[in-house]
Amino acid sequence: MSGKGSVLRLDVDNVFQDRIGETHGLPRGEVANLKRRIKLCNRDIEGRRGKDVGFMELPYDEALAARVKEKAGQLRGWCKNFVVLGIGGSALGNIATHGALNHCFHNLLPAEHPARNGAPRIFVLDNVDPALLGDFFDVVGDELEETAFNVITKSGSTAETMSQFLHVRDRLRSRGGDPARQIIATTDPRPEKSLLRRIAQEDGYWTLPIPDNVGGRFSVLSAVGLLSAAVGGIDIDELLAGAAAMDARCRAQTTDENPAALYAAILYLFYRRGKPITVLMPYSARLQRLGDWYCQLWAESLGKRDGLEAEDVFVGPTPVASVGVTDQHSVMQLYQDGKFDKVLTLVEVEEPAGPGGGPPICEGQAEAELAYLAAHTFGALFGAELTATRCALTDKQRPNMTIRLPRVGPRQMGELFMFFEYAVSYSGCLYGVNTFDQPGVELGKQYTYGLMGREGYEPPAGA
Ligand code: PA5
Repeated sequence: MSGKGSVLRLDVDNVFQDRIGETHGLPRGEVANLKRRIKLCNRDIEGRRGKDVGFMELPYDEALAARVKEKAGQLRGWCKNFVVLGIGGSALGNIATHGALNHCFHNLLPAEHPARNGAPRIFVLDNVDPALLGDFFDVVGDELEETAFNVITKSGSTAETMSQFLHVRDRLRSRGGDPARQIIATTDPRPEKSLLRRIAQEDGYWTLPIPDNVGGRFSVLSAVGLLSAAVGGIDIDELLAGAAAMDARCRAQTTDENPAALYAAILYLFYRRGKPITVLMPYSARLQRLGDWYCQLWAESLGKRDGLEAEDVFVGPTPVASVGVTDQHSVMQLYQDGKFDKVLTLVEVEEPAGPGGGPPICEGQAEAELAYLAAHTFGALFGAELTATRCALTDKQRPNMTIRLPRVGPRQMGELFMFFEYAVSYSGCLYGVNTFDQPGVELGKQYTYGLMGREGYEPPAGA
């Protein structure tokens, strides 16, 4: 359990009383009081590993990675657009991965640009808003036959995804496309569990599995996230290697060695002290969409009515996604001067533009009043803004942690995904809830089925 090669560092100094004062800080010893409970949580998570909980095993599925890479190579040979049809856990990991690891304007670059390297344009359609679908088909235009659709749904029946699937299949059939070549189905491998699996067998689609013990929001490192990553040119071996390195660290039993357990413990302690809002604020445009993935992971895993004995507990921290520097000119006012109900997690990328700090702000003449900017790189300005925010928060007694990464690459993304998935698992254990179910989401699905007239389902009373 060495965690060799792991580069993520978690700095928690600014949550303690000696940094932010007695009223809002934690006593240094308080985390240690959770030692026994963390150990029990560790035992619980380890005991379920590879049984009913499988996210931590995903980095080691070499056969799947090989299959995905082979298929991605074939797809890159003919497809100009690669489209994910999915929602929630079947979409947000894909969005976060592409946002982080592909060029910020990937779809706008010419395909032969070195930063795109022949990869297709990537789209993730995670809404059934007719405006979105209409606009999407405007963009695809006459490239429909050169477009691959990856339908992703673990249950194989989610109304949003299946309606998109029906529409796409229909369009392909009626406009000379070839559904069997252009549709890839990622779903539960058991036909008796997944309608999409049964359809895929009948229609002859190429398929990928989602393991039974990996829930949607924990599935980014499964086939759910890997295929679109590989098609987009992302090194999935590195992604998985980073996740494996973090897995090793998060198996440790103590908060000194295990960053996910430490993170979970701190947020839990603050929750109990009246700070139920947890803000993730990467200083990185590339990591902006990681925030949406994080919010889903946190909210669906921890926002629960039932405790482990099915008693009413109504718990759950409220996750919020922010991004630096953009939000310094928006919600930061609230974070600094509003209610003392938040804990911030900043993400610092030490070399956001690679070594050297990116382009200089200005190499030519600048006005005297702007000379203080002109002399620097954008990297230096970005770093200064992060430091300014951290100091301002600390001065104002706002608990804040910093996750440090040398850069945003596939290895670091693998680490981040695994870190947060473990952290939410430790959190669920501390809150005493089932981290891995989502009864609220399921109820919404059932009501939708009922309202749309699906056999066996009732619309909600009063609809
Ligand atoms: O995390 C979850 O379990 C959910 O958000 C699901 O991913 C989401 O509801 C979509 O479900 P499915 O993949 O079955 O279509």
